[in-house]
This record gives sequence, C-alpha cells and structure tokens, in this order.
Amino acid sequence: MTKTQIINFFSDFVKIQSVSTDKKRFLEIKKAVSFLKDFLLKLGFLVKVLEKEKAPPLILATLVFDKKAKTIGIYGHYDVQPEDPVSEWQTPPFLLTQKDGKFYGRGVADNKGHIVQNLFAIKKLIEEKKLKNNIVFILEGEEETGSIHFEDYVKEAKDILSKVDVFYLTDTGMHQKNAPQIFYGLRGIIYFELTVKIGERDLHSGVYGNRVYNPINVLADMIGKIKDIKTGKIQIPQFYEKVRKISKDELLLLKKTLKSDEEEKKEAAVFSLTEIDGFGSLSSKIFPSFDCHGIISGFTQEGQKTVIPKEAKVKFSFRLIEHQNPNEIEKLVFDFVKKNLPKEVKWELRCLSKSAPFYTDVNNLWVKKTASVLKDIFGNEVVFNRSGGSIPAAEILQRLYKKPIILTGFTLPDDNIHAPNENFDEEMFFKGVEALEKIYSVNF
Ligand code: BES
Ligand code: MN
Repeated sequence: MTKTQIINFFSDFVKIQSVSTDKKRFLEIKKAVSFLKDFLLKLGFLVKVLEKEKAPPLILATLVFDKKAKTIGIYGHYDVQPEDPVSEWQTPPFLLTQKDGKFYGRGVADNKGHIVQNLFAIKKLIEEKKLKNNIVFILEGEEETGSIHFEDYVKEAKDILSKVDVFYLTDTGMHQKNAPQIFYGLRGIIYFELTVKIGERDLHSGVYGNRVYNPINVLADMIGKIKDIKTGKIQIPQFYEKVRKISKDELLLLKKTLKSDEEEKKEAAVFSLTEIDGFGSLSSKIFPSFDCHGIISGFTQEGQKTVIPKEAKVKFSFRLIEHQNPNEIEKLVFDFVKKNLPKEVKWELRCLSKSAPFYTDVNNLWVKKTASVLKDIFGNEVVFNRSGGSIPAAEILQRLYKKPIILTGFTLPDDNIHAPNENFDEEMFFKGVEALEKIYSVNF
C-alpha cells in the first residue's frame, strides 16, 4: 500500500460534496455512502446501511477477527460543512490539493481525512495479518447538522454496538504539531432560528421610520439582551444554574493547555481576543457561549436602499457545559425571547438541533495504552484537554453503551475547519495513520 493509493482514495472522497445541511445535495450524501460501503466490503467487512426518511444514512460495518477478541468501535462522520464563502478559497473546495506540506479541501480535516486514516490503518493491519481486535465502523452523515437521528440509529444497532468494548472518535485535533491530545470533555450545543415579522411587505423608511418596528433592530436588540459582550456572560435568567463547578484539580491540569494571547491571535488570525473572568484561552472550553451565525434580512447589495424589511431572521446557538440540560435550556431561551420581544410583532423560534455536553473519565487502560502509543509515535506526552466544539455522538454513545470513549485526532490548530482553506498537515496525517495502526493492533 502506497501513499499514492491513500491520496487517490482521499481525493475521490473529497470530490463528493456531502454537505448535510444542503438538501439539494442529498444525492452526494448517498454517493459518499456507497463510496465508503464499497471500500469496506472490499476489506471484508459486513456492511449495514441504516436509513430513515430524509436523513443521511448511518453506516455500520463489522469485521470479526476472533469472537473472543475485544471489539473496537471507530466513529467518523462523512458529511461536511458548506464551502461558503467560495471566493475565499485559494484552491477549489472539493478538489484535494497538496500545497506547502498540507492537504486542502472541504472536509479534509473535519472529518474525511480522519476516516481515510482509520480505513487505511485497518486495511494495512488486515493485509499484514496484524489485526488483534474486532472492528466496527460507525460512520455518520449528519454530524454537521446536529446528529438528529443518531440516537435512534444507534439504538437500532444495539445487537452490534453492545458488543463494542471501546469507542474511538477521531474528530478532534492536536495541541500543536507533534503534540497529541486526548479530549475528556466537549461542549453541547443547541441551535435556533428566530424569525421576526412586522407585516406583509417592505416599507419606505422615510414614510414609516418611527411608526413601525424595524425587524432588524428588534433582532439586534434581542441579540444584545442575550449576551453582554463586555463580560461575555449570558443574561438569560437561570442559564448558568446547572453548570458544573470546575474543581481546582481540573483547573490545574487545564492550565497546562493554556495558550498565550499572541499564539491564539496568530492561530485564529484575529486582531483581538475576549475572555471570561480572566480565564484566557480556557474561556471557550469551560464556559457556555452564545453566537449568532447569520442574519438574513433587508438590503445587502452594493449601494443604498432605504427600506424597512418586513421580516428578519437570525441563526444562533448556545454551547453548553455539563450539567446543562438542552431541553431545559430550550425552554429558558423560549421564555426569554417571548418576554423580551415587543408584543406586537409576529415571531417564531425554531430549535434546529440540540445535544448534551460530554464529559468522561480518562482513568482506564484503553486511554493509558492509547496515550502511550501516541507518545511513541509523536515523541511527546499526550495533553489531556477539553474542547469547546461539539460531537453529539460522544455523549450519545457513552450514555447508551457505557463504554470508554476515546476522543483524539491529528489536525493542527490552524486546520480552518468550517472555514475556507480547510487543511490537514501531511506529516501529521501519515503519522496519524501509523499511530492508529499501532493502537488497533494492541492486544487489549
Ligand atoms: N470535529 C468537530 C468538533 C470539534 C471541533 C472538536 C474542534 C474539537 C475541536 C465537529 O465536526 C463539529 O464541528 N461539530 C459541530 C456540531 C454541531 C453542528 C451540532 C460543531 O461543533 O459546531
Ligand atoms: Mn465539524
């Protein structure tokens, strides 16, 4: 097996535009499924594709090496985020491009590259007869849209998944080059769309300014009320009530992961940073957050137009920390919005998806062995960390199957996931394949 074979496969995978939020590209989702299924069948896996109406399928592929051996579950997601804004890409988003020691393309890091690494690590072990464990691949196609059907899917697959002894989720990144990480916590997320409508048509702002509510102003006011941008605190009553208090010990450990402002500014290419209660780079990991993702309304073309639009819509989400309950947060947000919007406007608040925060115990043999392999391959001690990102599958698999969850990955902090010029460092990519081969051939 050569690097070229891996790269060719990777390139064919990236070509498939499996953007799960775009209903018009559902055929691409199906293409990704058959692409992966074919490969797994050739490797000798028994492949089951679970389907639900209008939902991306879940691929479950099993390879039994020895009934008495341990079973390793490997999770990945084959869907990707939209490629916009396309003009900001230096290479075509769906064309795998090698440049300056990196792979570029939508999904190369999040999460297609990691799937490719896992597939080829297993392929090599099969070919060299070094596989010591049974393998179950769990490949999801709606992670980037909130994993709405994942819980039902994995419940349906109980016969297969209840045999799994440990779940590996390689959908995160490294602390820096050659500094591997294992994550023991992720934030949950709840995603909303709020629409405000003031009437049946757009109006002249000279004729009606002061006489009607402007829906953009109304939304802006609401957004301003939800979060105080100076302190970073969310102003919704009882929002923080259930947040688990972080222990001194954990804080001490997390201090090791601190990044300097200079480093983080460079990494994110921003002019300034904000923080909560002086916690610097921990602010995005140990506190909930609130962010708007897009506002749709009014005149956005070049030049001037004096209009009061009839409606405005904002997309926003909250990241959640243990033990915040997404259902309870949904209710708090609904009540807050209702209370703070002018009574006279029509509005609708839709929750598009919600998933609970993830927190796990890393004191087990699986984590220890994994950490020691990672150290061997990369030459540095593993960093135990929390991430501000969300992977609904982690909490769901842990809650339903109660087995160790190992969250790791090989991309670098400037991997640009969800943004233009997403990339995966080539050296870390191939070293990652090596690490996975070693991990999956451990005699557990
Ligand atoms: N791989 C990411 C999660 C992640 C990002 C982990 C950075 C660690 C570091 C995952 O694919 C992702 O982006 N999830 C979404 C979930 C959401 C759409 C429900 C997220 O976090 O925005
Ligand atoms: Mn993602």
